[in-house]
Amino acid sequence: MAEYKLDLNRSDISDGEVKAVDVAGTKIALVALEGKLYALQGYCTHEQGILGDGYIDKKELICPMHAGAFDIETGKANESTSWVTDISTYACRVDEMTGEITVEM
Ligand code: FES
Repeated sequence: MAEYKLDLNRSDISDGEVKAVDVAGTKIALVALEGKLYALQGYCTHEQGILGDGYIDKKELICPMHAGAFDIETGKANESTSWVTDISTYACRVDEMTGEITVEM
């Protein structure tokens, strides 16, 4: 596992926002929810929908293609969207002084 500093700063992503970000050639979904930042697998387990283009519904990340739903904290697929399976999550840290974001993957 390695740590990667993102080009994105914490001030570049607002609460309730989802962004697709490239980290060392791998796409991830960066999600800002209730003051915290989460890094999740970038592609959906169904038909490779780009999860960084998805949206938040309550505490779930929703795939933009066929609305597969994933728990933002754990990556667990919602049983009601059985066409998707769990996705990976990555440790994500924010330097409170500089806003620098680091993801471990
Ligand atoms: S590609 Fe994500 S639900 Fe189909």
